[in-house]
Amino acid sequence: MPSTFTTPSFLFVLLLLTASFCLVNSRAPFACDPSDEATKDFPFCRTSMPISERVKDLIGRLTLQEKIKLLVNNAAGVTRLGIKGYEWWSEALHGVSNVGPGTRFGGDIPAATSFPQVITTVASFNASLWEAIGRVVSDEARAMYNGGNAGLTYWSPNVNIFRDPRWGRGQETPGEDPIVAGKYAASYVRGLQGNDGNRLKVAACCKHYTAYDLDNWNGVDRFHFNAKIRLTSHLGLVLKKAKLLVLCALTTKSMAFPLALIQTSSATPSAALGSLTGLDLDCGPFLAVHTEDAIKRGRLSETDVNGALVNTLTVQMRLGMFDGEPSAQPYGNLGPRDVCTRAHQELALEAARQGIVLLKNKGHELPLSSHRHRTVAVIGPNSDVTEAMIGNYAGVPCGYTTPLQGIGRYAKTLHQHGCSNVSCADDQLFGRALHVARQADATILVMGLDQSIEAEFRDRSSLLLPGKQQELVTKVASAAKGPTVLVLMSGGPIDVSFAKNDPRIAAILWAGYPGQAGGAAIADVLFGTTNPGGKLPITWYPEDYISKLPMTIMALRMDPKRGYPGRTYRFYYGPVVYPFGHGLSYTNFLQTLAKAPTSITIPLHGHHKHPNATISKTAVRVTHAKCNKLTVTVHIDVKNIGSRDGSHTLLVFSTPPGHWGQHKQLVAFDRVHVLAGAQQRVRINIHVCKYLSVVDRFGIRRIPMGQHSLHIGDTHHSFSLQATTLGIIKS
Ligand SMILES: *[C@@H]1O[C@H](CO)[C@@H](O)[C@H](O)[C@H]1NC(C)=O
Ligand SMILES: *[C@@H]1O[C@H](CO)[C@@H](O)[C@H](O)[C@H]1NC(C)=O
Ligand SMILES: *[C@@H]1O[C@H](CO)[C@@H](O)[C@H](O)[C@H]1NC(C)=O
Repeated sequence: MPSTFTTPSFLFVLLLLTASFCLVNSRAPFACDPSDEATKDFPFCRTSMPISERVKDLIGRLTLQEKIKLLVNNAAGVTRLGIKGYEWWSEALHGVSNVGPGTRFGGDIPAATSFPQVITTVASFNASLWEAIGRVVSDEARAMYNGGNAGLTYWSPNVNIFRDPRWGRGQETPGEDPIVAGKYAASYVRGLQGNDGNRLKVAACCKHYTAYDLDNWNGVDRFHFNAKIRLTSHLGLVLKKAKLLVLCALTTKSMAFPLALIQTSSATPSAALGSLTGLDLDCGPFLAVHTEDAIKRGRLSETDVNGALVNTLTVQMRLGMFDGEPSAQPYGNLGPRDVCTRAHQELALEAARQGIVLLKNKGHELPLSSHRHRTVAVIGPNSDVTEAMIGNYAGVPCGYTTPLQGIGRYAKTLHQHGCSNVSCADDQLFGRALHVARQADATILVMGLDQSIEAEFRDRSSLLLPGKQQELVTKVASAAKGPTVLVLMSGGPIDVSFAKNDPRIAAILWAGYPGQAGGAAIADVLFGTTNPGGKLPITWYPEDYISKLPMTIMALRMDPKRGYPGRTYRFYYGPVVYPFGHGLSYTNFLQTLAKAPTSITIPLHGHHKHPNATISKTAVRVTHAKCNKLTVTVHIDVKNIGSRDGSHTLLVFSTPPGHWGQHKQLVAFDRVHVLAGAQQRVRINIHVCKYLSVVDRFGIRRIPMGQHSLHIGDTHHSFSLQATTLGIIKS
């Protein structure tokens, strides 16, 4: 390279650095601006004072009208106190998103790392991956905030249970199991919020409270449907896990951060407000419009408003928004150069690799080999897609690798769409697809769904592949010269029984919505540079399941009298296409139980002991047990008996004794990497009160006494639980 280039490029780098330095400083302070003599010395600006004192001072200075304008997502500024307006609503389910008015892309930050959709990331069952993604997302969010392009408060994660396979927003969730959802939420939120004492990197707000899982089914939507639910097991579990760190959406005093959406269609607004104790912030204008009237009518008091502000202002103070100059604070140095970095994009690729699920691999045709499969036919409406890979609540990605591009790194490709889009209304393009399948050494069909089939405001009406997709797959498979592999993109499950049972279809992969690098990850799995280890976080039901199941019935438990089959692996025992937790590998793992107790004694609190009472043989209330550190510890050896290194997910299920209306429940999981031929011992602690208890008909959580069994793959182990020998008062 001629030396004359050195000087200009050096200058260019300097310019860039200066530009980003300026940008970092470009956001004016939200409040307590050190250059504003009139406002900088208020006590609420003093970082040396405890946050509770600063919040109290600030609330004391606000008029009722000013306070009310702070109760909504686009909070008004209070100019006389030097406080600017703030947009609370930003989104970051799997990367900073441009859904939500608080965030916009452009200028120095035109894009951000777009991770796989949540349902895909969750299929990795890897909690450290979930936290790592949260850390990257919050780095990029802070960088965007510093540049004036985003807020610091994110309506993420979505912790609704994926209850109905048709739900258009199931893709955003951590699946159907409450333990997985709870662990996901806790990990992702820890990643987002950081681990710096009282200081928050960004603030996470879990959504939605519960029973929100219906978008548009036969004309019924979530804004008008009044879900009737019993608050039993799942919600409590999810939120208990999450709230340790999260300031989460819930109607309890301990929660600092607000519900993201409230039902605002009530005919009597002020009456509606009266019942909303615990709600701190409205994602919408309702509270700003109706609060004053509600106070006049005595439905609400100024004390209630103060209570809400204590929570929201505390969050803003913990974020450093009242600490003056943003660039002088922790995270103040993050800027454009910290967005879409090589490492961040590598993590997006890694997340997709870890989440891809191998559903079928008959005759071990996968992985393909660049030597034997030199020419590969790549067919299907999702074979060369970009946006479809990032699902909903996404932003603008740093760049894409489509499946066609990914596969092109390993082999010569012959490309055909087969259908003009996922609706696949006709067979006009079939002929060309069959033609390339006949030429190629292997055929890969990239099929499935996109947001035109499942989305917010759009539930599915069928679990089958849309239109003529199934016909295309079958015809291509019978024409193909080499092995045929079906790759599916979707959030919800698809009834692919036809492909599962078709011997001409060698393998099936589920890629979910694999994010910006999804095509590279798919190709890495197909060609074996990645050994797949993902597991389904949802049950894949057969098509006829949904005919017995109106979306409007929220109940999880089955009801044989009404022919209602129940929902999720915990309560549905009928036939499935693929079960919750299904997922194959290119190697084989052997799990054996190395060590486990056969009996556990549960100590009770003193006042529940009663020398003369008989021991309850059925159950004890969780509130009567000394739960602290009461765990069942099992040791499991995982041996890789195949010839490839791989990651294995251990799923530990438990069944309570007797007739507790539940056959099994996941109680623990762990993902481990085991080299070919090696063995690893995994220690699993199961918290007795949290995970071995059940919720009875009255909503009371009890620990059943007697034989519990654990199921770890094909291994079963029974152990008994009993209360201390002293009797207990009948509970
Ligand atoms: C799919 O393609 C058909 C034409 O083949 C078109 O009529 C339809 O609008 C397309 N659907 C979407 C969602 O783009
Ligand atoms: C237990 O039973 C004995 C004999 O029936 C009785 O004398 C005693 O008072 C009882 N103790 C309590 C704590 O009720
Ligand atoms: C879990 O994810 C992290 C982050 O990508 C990775 O370093 C680790 O190897 C993964 N664990 C397993 C067992 O795959």
